Amino acid sequence: MAMTADAQPGTAGHPVPRTGLPGADAGSGNGLGAVVPATRTAMSATPPFAAIKTAPGLARGHVRATLAGWRLGGFADDAETIASELVANAVNASAPVLAADRMPVIRVCLVTDGDVLTIECWDQAPGLPVLRRADGFAETGRGLAIIDAITGGCWGCRPAIGQDGKCVYAEIPLRSASARRLPD
Ligand SMILES: Nc1ncnc2c1ncn2[C@@H]1O[C@H](COP(=O)(O)OP(=O)(O)O)[C@@H](O)[C@H]1O
Ligand SMILES: [Mg+2]
Repeated sequence: MAMTADAQPGTAGHPVPRTGLPGADAGSGNGLGAVVPATRTAMSATPPFAAIKTAPGLARGHVRATLAGWRLGGFADDAETIASELVANAVNASAPVLAADRMPVIRVCLVTDGDVLTIECWDQAPGLPVLRRADGFAETGRGLAIIDAITGGCWGCRPAIGQDGKCVYAEIPLRSASARRLPD
């Protein structure tokens, strides 16, 4: 499922964005006028948006709208939670870049092959994600633990090649026994 190490949204190394419904028949419509591709692979990336406090909300909106279009709305709650936590972390980590008078950006990319939904958050920030075990009274340090629980540990990080930052990603199973689909 993971893309190659040099693959970045919007670059030549990244899969071509497709519009359609994973798992649907070739040639049928999705009710929104989109043509469904023969392949079940689909990708949807946001444009770059500023790494400021409005970013998590933008990411949640992109996730909900995209999954509705792919008829994967039953996974939207988990996917939005993951995207929100990943992007909030990226915003926090981007603070030193902002303080240096540069405008760091974030991109969120959703990819699925019909079996797994991968949520990627690309940042231009220093540092790496560290899974913490927050005690009962801690007010921080839970985001990655939540992602870890939702994904069964299927999350990680890889460097962005040729630019600052990295991709932190998390995978939601769509078909396995552990899939947590809600009614669309
Ligand atoms: N995108 C990121 N860039 C740099 N560091 C990160 C990133 N995401 C997470 N981290 C690190 O991992 C830690 C744990 O993240 P998290 O579990 O979400 O807790 P919190 O955000 O409340 O600190 C963060 O405090 C930070 O040090
Ligand atoms: Mg966090």
